[in-house]
Amino acid sequence: MSTLPRVIVLATGGTIAGSASSAASSARYQAATVPVSALLQAVPVLGAVARLEAEQVAQVDSKDMSFGLWKRLSARIDHWAAQPDVAGIVVTHGTDTLEETAMLLHLTLRVEVPVVLTAAMRPSTALSADGPANLLDAIRVAADPQAHGKGVLVVLNQEIHSARDAVKAHTASVGAFVSPSAGPLGFVQDATVRVLRAPLPGPAEPWAMPSSWPLVEIVASYAEPSRLMVDALVAGGARGIVVAAAGNGSVHDTLVAALVDAAEAGVAVVRSSRTGAGHVAVPPYINPAAAAFPTAGDLNPYKARVALGLLLGAEPDLAADAMALQQRLLAI
Ligand code: SIN
Repeated sequence: MSTLPRVIVLATGGTIAGSASSAASSARYQAATVPVSALLQAVPVLGAVARLEAEQVAQVDSKDMSFGLWKRLSARIDHWAAQPDVAGIVVTHGTDTLEETAMLLHLTLRVEVPVVLTAAMRPSTALSADGPANLLDAIRVAADPQAHGKGVLVVLNQEIHSARDAVKAHTASVGAFVSPSAGPLGFVQDATVRVLRAPLPGPAEPWAMPSSWPLVEIVASYAEPSRLMVDALVAGGARGIVVAAAGNGSVHDTLVAALVDAAEAGVAVVRSSRTGAGHVAVPPYINPAAAAFPTAGDLNPYKARVALGLLLGAEPDLAADAMALQQRLLAI
C-alpha cells in the first residue's frame, strides 16, 4: 500500500482540457475536449507525488459556467472532503471565469482539506503547454501540509494565490493570474512548495449556498452613460446591481440618479472599481448620493457580483439593509 497522500482531481473543462489540430497555435483550439484521465496520463510523474483519483464533474468552456455547475462542483468537493484519508482536492477549470468560481468556493466551502483550483492558458496540444506543470504544481500544493487551513487556493505559473484575491489579468500570458492588491501567498518551484503567509481569514462562518441564483448584474460607470440599463434591470426584476465605478468608487451623476431610484425600488446596489486594483473608499469622497451604496472593498466587479448573488440568494432581506450588506461585504 502506497504511503503517498491521496489527492482527488475534479475536472470541469477549460483550456487545460483543450485541444487543437495543430500544435502551432494557442489561440485556435477547442476548450474542454480532453478527458481528465488523459490529462493525468500525460504527466507520468504525478504518480510519484500522490495517489490520484479523478472525476469528470463537467466538460465546459468556463465562459458558460452556471449556478447549477457551481452547486454540483461544490457537492462533489464536500463528498470527497468528507473521506478521512483525502489529503487534498484539485479542481481543473477554465481560466476565463476561474476567479468567479474561486470566489464562490472561498465563501461557501466548509472543508478542512486544501482545495486547489488550477487551469491553463494554452491547450494541452500546444507547444509549451502550461497545463501539465500547473496540474503537477496544484497536486503538490493540495498534498502539502502547508496548504492546510489556507482556504481555497489558485495555483498557476508556479504561484499560489488565495481564491479570494486571484483574478485573470491578461488575455494570453501564462502568467495571467495575479492577486492585484494582496500579491501571491507563495510559490511552487520544482518539488518545493513554499506558503509564505496566510490569506485573509474571510467570514467567520461559511456563507450558505442559495437554492437558486438571484438576478444580479454589473453596470459600468463611464463618460456620457445613459440610465437605460439600470432602468431595464429594475423593470426586469433585478435583485442586485454591482456598479463598476470609476477610480476610487465614483459614479457618473446620471447613473447615480438611476441607481438611487433602483435602491428605492428595493434593488441592492454595490460599488466596486473598474480600475483592477485597490480598495474602494467608504464613504465615497465625492457624490454624497452614492454614499448610500455599500462598497465591495477590493473585490473586482465580477467577484463582488458573486458575493452579492450569494448574499441576496440566501438572505433576500439584505437588499433593504445597506449597513448590514456593507458589513457582510467588508468581512470577506
Ligand atoms: C475557459 O475558460 O474554459 C477557456 C479559456 C481558458 O481556459 O483559458
